[in-house]
Amino acid sequence: MEVFICSDPLAVGERAAAVVLDALQKPAGEFPVLGVATGSSPLMLYAELGRLASEGEFDPTGVRAFALDEYVGLPKEHPESYWSTLMRTVCDTIGVLPENLHVPNGEAATEAELRARAADYDDRIDATGGIDVQILGIGTNGHLGFNEPGSSLSSRTRVKRLSAQTRTDNQRFFDDRDVPTHCVTQGLGTIRRARKLVLIATGAGKASAVEAAVEGPLTASCPASILQWHEHAVVVADEDAASALKNREYYDLAAAGM
Ligand code: GLP
Repeated sequence: MEVFICSDPLAVGERAAAVVLDALQKPAGEFPVLGVATGSSPLMLYAELGRLASEGEFDPTGVRAFALDEYVGLPKEHPESYWSTLMRTVCDTIGVLPENLHVPNGEAATEAELRARAADYDDRIDATGGIDVQILGIGTNGHLGFNEPGSSLSSRTRVKRLSAQTRTDNQRFFDDRDVPTHCVTQGLGTIRRARKLVLIATGAGKASAVEAAVEGPLTASCPASILQWHEHAVVVADEDAASALKNREYYDLAAAGM
Protein backbone atom coordinates (compact mmCIF):
# COMPACT_ATOMS: atom_id res chain seq x y z
CA MET A 1 0.00 0.00 0.00
CA GLU A 2 1.20 3.52 -0.74
CA VAL A 3 0.29 6.23 1.76
CA PHE A 4 0.57 9.89 0.77
CA ILE A 5 0.12 12.47 3.51
CA CYS A 6 -0.62 15.95 2.19
CA SER A 7 -0.71 19.32 3.92
CA ASP A 8 -4.39 20.07 3.24
CA PRO A 9 -7.45 18.92 1.26
CA LEU A 10 -6.38 20.92 -1.82
CA ALA A 11 -3.06 19.07 -1.94
CA VAL A 12 -4.93 15.79 -1.38
CA GLY A 13 -7.02 16.53 -4.47
CA GLU A 14 -3.94 17.27 -6.58
CA ARG A 15 -2.06 14.16 -5.46
CA ALA A 16 -5.10 11.91 -5.91
CA ALA A 17 -5.76 13.37 -9.38
CA ALA A 18 -2.21 12.49 -10.46
CA VAL A 19 -2.67 8.90 -9.26
CA VAL A 20 -6.09 8.58 -10.92
CA LEU A 21 -4.99 10.07 -14.27
CA ASP A 22 -2.01 7.74 -14.39
CA ALA A 23 -4.33 4.75 -13.85
CA LEU A 24 -6.73 5.95 -16.57
CA GLN A 25 -4.09 5.82 -19.33
CA LYS A 26 -5.30 3.16 -21.78
CA PRO A 27 -4.04 1.90 -25.12
CA ALA A 28 -5.64 3.60 -28.16
CA GLY A 29 -9.12 2.24 -28.80
CA GLU A 30 -9.81 1.25 -25.18
CA PHE A 31 -11.90 3.45 -22.89
CA PRO A 32 -10.91 4.13 -19.29
CA VAL A 33 -13.25 2.90 -16.55
CA LEU A 34 -13.42 4.98 -13.37
CA GLY A 35 -15.12 3.94 -10.13
CA VAL A 36 -16.63 7.01 -8.47
CA ALA A 37 -17.62 7.75 -4.88
CA THR A 38 -19.93 10.29 -3.28
CA GLY A 39 -19.29 12.17 -0.04
CA SER A 40 -17.20 15.25 0.61
CA SER A 41 -13.80 13.51 0.53
CA PRO A 42 -13.36 13.23 -3.27
CA LEU A 43 -14.65 16.72 -4.10
CA MET A 44 -11.20 18.32 -4.36
CA LEU A 45 -10.11 15.45 -6.58
CA TYR A 46 -13.11 15.98 -8.86
CA ALA A 47 -12.42 19.72 -8.99
CA GLU A 48 -8.81 19.04 -9.98
CA LEU A 49 -9.83 16.51 -12.65
CA GLY A 50 -12.27 19.11 -13.99
CA ARG A 51 -9.51 21.70 -14.09
CA LEU A 52 -7.16 19.32 -15.92
CA ALA A 53 -9.91 18.40 -18.39
CA SER A 54 -10.66 22.07 -19.10
CA GLU A 55 -6.96 22.63 -19.78
CA GLY A 56 -6.92 19.71 -22.22
CA GLU A 57 -4.74 17.49 -20.02
CA PHE A 58 -7.20 14.62 -20.41
CA ASP A 59 -10.41 13.85 -22.24
CA PRO A 60 -13.27 12.92 -19.89
CA THR A 61 -15.72 12.20 -22.70
CA GLY A 62 -14.44 8.68 -23.23
CA VAL A 63 -14.50 7.78 -19.52
CA ARG A 64 -17.03 5.18 -18.33
CA ALA A 65 -17.93 5.77 -14.68
CA PHE A 66 -19.48 3.35 -12.18
CA ALA A 67 -20.82 4.52 -8.82
CA LEU A 68 -20.16 2.62 -5.63
CA ASP A 69 -23.63 2.81 -4.18
CA GLU A 70 -27.14 4.31 -4.07
CA TYR A 71 -29.91 4.72 -1.53
CA VAL A 72 -32.97 2.48 -1.81
CA GLY A 73 -36.35 4.18 -2.16
CA LEU A 74 -35.00 7.67 -2.78
CA PRO A 75 -36.23 9.01 -6.14
CA LYS A 76 -33.36 9.38 -8.61
CA GLU A 77 -34.28 13.06 -9.01
CA HIS A 78 -33.95 13.81 -5.28
CA PRO A 79 -30.93 16.14 -4.93
CA GLU A 80 -29.27 13.77 -2.45
CA SER A 81 -29.68 10.58 -4.48
CA TYR A 82 -26.23 9.41 -5.47
CA TRP A 83 -27.28 9.60 -9.12
CA SER A 84 -28.07 13.34 -8.70
CA THR A 85 -24.92 13.89 -6.63
CA LEU A 86 -22.67 12.26 -9.22
CA MET A 87 -24.38 14.10 -12.08
CA ARG A 88 -23.18 17.28 -10.36
CA THR A 89 -19.75 16.17 -9.14
CA VAL A 90 -18.63 13.86 -11.93
CA CYS A 91 -20.62 14.89 -15.03
CA ASP A 92 -20.90 18.66 -14.48
CA THR A 93 -17.54 19.15 -12.76
CA ILE A 94 -15.28 16.74 -14.65
CA GLY A 95 -17.14 16.42 -17.94
CA VAL A 96 -17.97 12.70 -17.91
CA LEU A 97 -20.95 12.26 -20.24
CA PRO A 98 -24.24 11.50 -18.42
CA GLU A 99 -24.85 8.47 -20.63
CA ASN A 100 -21.52 7.05 -19.45
CA LEU A 101 -22.39 7.33 -15.74
CA HIS A 102 -23.73 4.11 -14.22
CA VAL A 103 -25.33 4.10 -10.77
CA PRO A 104 -26.92 1.11 -8.99
CA ASN A 105 -30.71 1.15 -9.22
CA GLY A 106 -32.38 1.89 -5.89
CA GLU A 107 -35.88 2.38 -7.23
CA ALA A 108 -37.04 -1.00 -8.52
CA ALA A 109 -40.74 -1.70 -7.94
CA THR A 110 -40.26 -4.96 -6.04
CA GLU A 111 -37.64 -6.30 -3.68
CA ALA A 112 -36.93 -9.20 -6.05
CA GLU A 113 -36.30 -6.76 -8.92
CA LEU A 114 -34.08 -4.61 -6.70
CA ARG A 115 -31.96 -7.63 -5.80
CA ALA A 116 -31.81 -8.85 -9.40
CA ARG A 117 -30.69 -5.45 -10.67
CA ALA A 118 -28.06 -5.24 -7.95
CA ALA A 119 -26.66 -8.60 -9.05
CA ASP A 120 -26.63 -7.41 -12.70
CA TYR A 121 -24.51 -4.41 -11.75
CA ASP A 122 -21.36 -6.50 -11.35
CA ASP A 123 -22.00 -8.02 -14.79
CA ARG A 124 -22.26 -4.51 -16.26
CA ILE A 125 -18.90 -3.60 -14.72
CA ASP A 126 -17.34 -6.82 -16.01
CA ALA A 127 -18.76 -6.17 -19.50
CA THR A 128 -16.70 -2.97 -19.75
CA GLY A 129 -13.53 -4.90 -18.93
CA GLY A 130 -13.53 -3.94 -15.24
CA ILE A 131 -12.73 -0.79 -13.28
CA ASP A 132 -9.26 0.67 -13.89
CA VAL A 133 -9.23 2.79 -10.77
CA GLN A 134 -11.78 2.99 -7.97
CA ILE A 135 -12.04 6.20 -5.94
CA LEU A 136 -13.06 5.57 -2.32
CA GLY A 137 -13.95 7.60 0.74
CA ILE A 138 -14.10 6.06 4.20
CA GLY A 139 -16.88 6.18 6.76
CA THR A 140 -16.14 7.13 10.36
CA ASN A 141 -16.89 3.47 11.16
CA GLY A 142 -14.49 2.25 8.46
CA HIS A 143 -17.16 1.57 5.84
CA LEU A 144 -16.33 1.48 2.14
CA GLY A 145 -19.15 2.39 -0.22
CA PHE A 146 -21.99 1.33 2.05
CA ASN A 147 -20.28 -1.87 3.23
CA GLU A 148 -20.75 -1.56 6.96
CA PRO A 149 -18.59 -3.32 9.58
CA GLY A 150 -19.27 -7.05 9.36
CA SER A 151 -19.67 -7.07 5.55
CA SER A 152 -18.34 -10.16 3.80
CA LEU A 153 -14.89 -9.56 2.36
CA SER A 154 -16.06 -11.37 -0.79
CA SER A 155 -19.44 -9.65 -1.15
CA ARG A 156 -20.81 -8.52 -4.52
CA THR A 157 -23.21 -5.69 -5.31
CA ARG A 158 -26.33 -6.21 -3.19
CA VAL A 159 -29.01 -4.61 -1.05
CA LYS A 160 -27.95 -3.80 2.54
CA ARG A 161 -29.28 -2.05 5.63
CA LEU A 162 -27.40 1.09 6.70
CA SER A 163 -25.92 1.24 10.20
CA ALA A 164 -27.22 3.73 12.75
CA GLN A 165 -23.81 5.47 12.68
CA THR A 166 -23.94 5.98 8.90
CA ARG A 167 -27.52 7.25 9.00
CA THR A 168 -26.54 9.73 11.71
CA ASP A 169 -23.41 10.81 9.77
CA ASN A 170 -25.40 11.34 6.55
CA GLN A 171 -28.42 13.09 8.08
CA ARG A 172 -26.59 16.40 7.48
CA PHE A 173 -27.36 16.05 3.77
CA PHE A 174 -31.13 15.68 4.30
CA ASP A 175 -33.24 18.56 5.58
CA ASP A 176 -36.53 17.25 4.13
CA ARG A 177 -36.59 13.64 5.35
CA ASP A 178 -34.76 10.91 7.27
CA VAL A 179 -31.84 9.13 5.67
CA PRO A 180 -33.12 6.01 3.87
CA THR A 181 -32.70 2.77 5.82
CA HIS A 182 -31.34 0.66 2.95
CA CYS A 183 -28.91 0.95 0.07
CA VAL A 184 -27.50 -0.92 -2.92
CA THR A 185 -23.73 -1.05 -2.69
CA GLN A 186 -20.87 -2.61 -4.58
CA GLY A 187 -19.56 -5.41 -2.37
CA LEU A 188 -16.08 -5.58 -0.92
CA GLY A 189 -15.37 -8.39 -3.40
CA THR A 190 -16.54 -6.11 -6.24
CA ILE A 191 -14.37 -3.23 -5.04
CA ARG A 192 -11.38 -5.51 -4.67
CA ARG A 193 -11.59 -6.45 -8.39
CA ALA A 194 -10.75 -2.88 -9.48
CA ARG A 195 -7.19 -2.74 -10.79
CA LYS A 196 -6.30 0.15 -8.50
CA LEU A 197 -7.91 1.56 -5.34
CA VAL A 198 -7.46 5.17 -4.24
CA LEU A 199 -8.84 5.98 -0.80
CA ILE A 200 -9.17 9.66 0.08
CA ALA A 201 -9.55 10.88 3.66
CA THR A 202 -9.62 14.38 5.08
CA GLY A 203 -10.35 15.75 8.53
CA ALA A 204 -9.71 14.61 12.09
CA GLY A 205 -13.02 12.73 12.17
CA LYS A 206 -11.48 10.11 9.88
CA ALA A 207 -8.22 9.64 11.84
CA SER A 208 -9.15 6.50 13.77
CA ALA A 209 -10.85 4.88 10.75
CA VAL A 210 -7.76 5.56 8.61
CA GLU A 211 -5.48 4.12 11.31
CA ALA A 212 -7.64 0.97 11.53
CA ALA A 213 -7.74 0.60 7.74
CA VAL A 214 -4.01 1.08 7.16
CA GLU A 215 -2.38 -0.30 10.31
CA GLY A 216 -5.03 -2.46 11.99
CA PRO A 217 -5.81 -6.10 11.20
CA LEU A 218 -7.47 -7.17 7.94
CA THR A 219 -10.99 -7.65 9.25
CA ALA A 220 -14.63 -7.33 8.24
CA SER A 221 -14.97 -5.14 11.35
CA CYS A 222 -13.13 -2.45 9.38
CA PRO A 223 -14.25 -2.89 5.74
CA ALA A 224 -11.62 -0.41 4.52
CA SER A 225 -8.89 -2.76 5.76
CA ILE A 226 -9.40 -4.69 2.48
CA LEU A 227 -6.98 -2.17 0.99
CA GLN A 228 -4.26 -4.22 2.70
CA TRP A 229 -5.31 -7.18 0.56
CA HIS A 230 -5.07 -5.33 -2.75
CA GLU A 231 -2.02 -5.29 -4.98
CA HIS A 232 -2.34 -1.61 -5.94
CA ALA A 233 -3.92 0.38 -3.11
CA VAL A 234 -3.16 4.04 -2.49
CA VAL A 235 -4.26 6.16 0.47
CA VAL A 236 -4.18 9.94 0.13
CA ALA A 237 -4.88 11.71 3.42
CA ASP A 238 -4.47 15.18 4.83
CA GLU A 239 -2.53 15.79 8.04
CA ASP A 240 -5.66 15.60 10.20
CA ALA A 241 -6.91 12.31 8.77
CA ALA A 242 -3.37 10.85 9.02
CA SER A 243 -2.81 12.04 12.58
CA ALA A 244 -3.32 8.62 14.25
CA LEU A 245 -0.95 6.71 11.92
CA LYS A 246 2.04 5.25 13.78
CA ASN A 247 4.33 4.58 10.81
CA ARG A 248 4.25 8.11 9.47
CA GLU A 249 8.01 8.37 9.05
CA TYR A 250 8.10 5.31 6.79
CA TYR A 251 5.22 6.54 4.59
CA ASP A 252 6.95 9.88 4.07
CA LEU A 253 10.25 8.20 3.15
CA ALA A 254 8.50 5.81 0.75
CA ALA A 255 6.54 8.67 -0.85
CA ALA A 256 9.78 10.58 -1.43
CA GLY A 257 10.84 7.77 -3.82
CA MET A 258 14.08 5.87 -4.39
C1 GLP B 1 -21.14 7.82 2.36
C2 GLP B 1 -20.74 7.05 1.11
C3 GLP B 1 -19.30 6.58 1.19
C4 GLP B 1 -18.42 7.73 1.62
C5 GLP B 1 -18.81 8.18 3.00
C6 GLP B 1 -17.91 9.26 3.58
O1 GLP B 1 -21.58 7.02 3.39
N1 GLP B 1 -21.58 5.94 0.85
O2 GLP B 1 -18.91 6.09 -0.08
O3 GLP B 1 -17.09 7.30 1.63
O4 GLP B 1 -20.13 8.68 2.88
O5 GLP B 1 -18.35 10.52 3.21
P1 GLP B 1 -17.54 11.85 3.45
O6 GLP B 1 -16.43 11.81 2.45
O7 GLP B 1 -18.50 12.94 3.19
O8 GLP B 1 -17.05 11.80 4.84
